Amino acid sequence: MDLAFRTLVDYVSRESGIDLHQYRESYLKRRIELRMKMLGVRDFGEYLRLIKADGEDEVKKLINTITINVTEFMRDRTPFEYLMKVILPEIASRKRRVNSNIVRFWSAGCSCGEEPYSLAICALEALGDGWMISIYATDIDDACLEMAREGFYKPTQLKNLSRALINKYFDREGDGYRVKSFLKRYVRFKKHDLTTDEPVSRYLDVVFCRNVMIYFSENQKAKAVNDFYNALIAGGYLVIGKSETLPAGFKSRFECVNLREKVYRKITDST
Ligand SMILES: C[S@@+](CC[C@H](N)C(=O)[O-])C[C@H]1O[C@@H](n2cnc3c(N)ncnc32)[C@H](O)[C@@H]1O
Repeated sequence: MDLAFRTLVDYVSRESGIDLHQYRESYLKRRIELRMKMLGVRDFGEYLRLIKADGEDEVKKLINTITINVTEFMRDRTPFEYLMKVILPEIASRKRRVNSNIVRFWSAGCSCGEEPYSLAICALEALGDGWMISIYATDIDDACLEMAREGFYKPTQLKNLSRALINKYFDREGDGYRVKSFLKRYVRFKKHDLTTDEPVSRYLDVVFCRNVMIYFSENQKAKAVNDFYNALIAGGYLVIGKSETLPAGFKSRFECVNLREKVYRKITDST
């Protein structure tokens, strides 16, 4: 560990009460550099000065960045139940009226794939046969994307799934489960930075961006939400994390359809 990095890790561990030394050094470096990139900071020394000047707030944001890959299949359960019971049936009836059978999703900040594969499972379960389902799954973290493409998970990641769903969509392998190849084909993984890159696609029906924007600045949040707005079709849905809020200024562009599940719908003049 170089000195500036060690001083930074010691300082943040002391201030946050979370012992960062427990993490692998390469992982820790990657996450801290990610946060530095978002702030436009070039080296660990400069970042430590910024943390000391900013205080508690930046320490919290860094901790969030470090613990950020935490996820699981159907995280929080109820937003996925709402997707299956309310959102997808509404989309299906709207599409049938215009003779379309394509439903497009974007899992923005997909971590190691649990969310986009959950979306694929929900879509297959709720829509049944005859639909073309396409799921874009993006993340800034290469290592996560690699694991997502592998599609191999520990049993704890699957604890929100019923035995029937596990049997249908996973193969048992060693001490874990591998996503079946037919399910993988619905999901396309791509590296993408929500704070700088253009949206991955247009004409989307549903965007899930959950537990990603929590540590974005207001400007970065506004940029991402503006991209979601442009990427969605009229009446398309945006689902964010339970503890998250849309940035100010989006009230006229998204209506809240379920506050508890944090589900919003794109409003246009024609909606
Ligand atoms: C806690 S995980 C959320 C995973 C999933 N959406 C969920 O709710 O469980 C947050 C993910 O956001 C990704 N992320 C952080 N900053 C990002 C950025 N600027 N652009 C895209 N993804 C980002 C992280 O790499 C991480 O995989």
